[in-house]
Amino acid sequence: MTPGAPFIVRKDDHLFIDQWRAKRIAEHVGTPCFVYSKAALEHAWHQYADALAGTPHLICYAVKANSNLAILNLFARLGAGFDIVSGGELARVLAAGGKADRVVFSGVGKTEGEMRAALYAGIKCFNIESPSELERLDRVAGEMGKVAPISVRVNPDVDAKTHAHISTGKKENKFGIGYDMAPDVYRRARDLANIRITGIDAHIGSQVLDVEPLYACMRRLLDLVDRLASEGIHLHHISNGGGLGVQYRQGETSPDIPAYVTRLMAMLDGRKLELLLEPGRSLVGNAGVLLSTVEVLKIAGEKRFCVVDAAMNDLARPAIYGAWHDIVNAGPDTAPVRDWDVVGPVCESTDKLGEGRPLGISEGDMVAILSAGAYGMTMSSNYNTRPRAVEVLIDGDDAHIIRKREVIADLFKDELIPGQG
Ligand code: LLP
Repeated sequence: MTPGAPFIVRKDDHLFIDQWRAKRIAEHVGTPCFVYSKAALEHAWHQYADALAGTPHLICYAVKANSNLAILNLFARLGAGFDIVSGGELARVLAAGGKADRVVFSGVGKTEGEMRAALYAGIKCFNIESPSELERLDRVAGEMGKVAPISVRVNPDVDAKTHAHISTGKKENKFGIGYDMAPDVYRRARDLANIRITGIDAHIGSQVLDVEPLYACMRRLLDLVDRLASEGIHLHHISNGGGLGVQYRQGETSPDIPAYVTRLMAMLDGRKLELLLEPGRSLVGNAGVLLSTVEVLKIAGEKRFCVVDAAMNDLARPAIYGAWHDIVNAGPDTAPVRDWDVVGPVCESTDKLGEGRPLGISEGDMVAILSAGAYGMTMSSNYNTRPRAVEVLIDGDDAHIIRKREVIADLFKDELIPGQG
């Protein structure tokens, strides 16, 4: 099954995003182009929301996965909260119609300016990642005459068994406060005048396919909740973070979201806690594709290179993590199927989108890089002075441009030559 099915499928020799032929979309907006299926986004949302119905909860979408205003707006209308990691993400959430009192703010290095903006907006809570951040927040809140709601982000020292670059819950990672240290941080927080304790949270990593470590994390958090309660520190919410993986290649299975959520609810075991989750990838990853045109087919000795017009600046994951994304022909095969290294035009040998991919393509054809909805556009750059791609949201019969393709002149409009102008 194609990653993204049943919303993104190949049938009758064409790739479809909902009822739209990929080629038809690209004819209108050009390539490279990110296309998202609204139906797929809503489906993923309901995997969480329906299972959580009946339990006090908040699904805080991790904005970093895909922060386009249209996507944030869609989730806001579905009732989402948001997990942010910067003042910039807060501004986006608010601009998209998200509610500040549903925002949790993670991150190891929040600046005073970011703290002020979040206090001013009135966010749900700051996920505190160090003792010194707690002191700083108390001071900043005091200066503003506010009380800052906090959760302590605990580093549970649990191995998420995922790529080292996206593993965050081991004690050697920079994230969170050491498990043994956390009670002291809560005791200190209780004594600070401008701090109000509201919760506890953790996030152990991303693209997690084996959910056992996530349950281990929840268990560790619940043990702390009970210990704190015995000292008279009562928490209002618990967040087990994000992290559920998605299918990137045929044959791979991603975790069953309702089963995961149901088990977390059972683990609460009557404790009066609001359950928070911070999913990013599992809400958007399989809902998007990156469409790209084959520019040049090049044979160099044993190697066959398919040079496309998308590159590592559009989708950095293969270059950074060696990540796999399935790549398919967007239209009918026009040549015998051969194994191709699908590469971009950027001047780096790591600019590979996929190696040895069987494709029956010719120059001018269009390919689709699948499961590109998460950490695609948000990690894109202008490297090699390449304008960022256009983004399209498919909504039934309608295809909306939700971000225009960048214009080259805009890429250097803020640059100044000393002595000129
Ligand atoms: N909460 C916190 C505090 C996080 O740091 C993250 C992701 C999430 C939630 C959402 O995790 P998700 O549900 O998406 O797994 N660029 C990498 C992924 C980095 C994830 C960083 N933190 C990639 O492309 O694989």
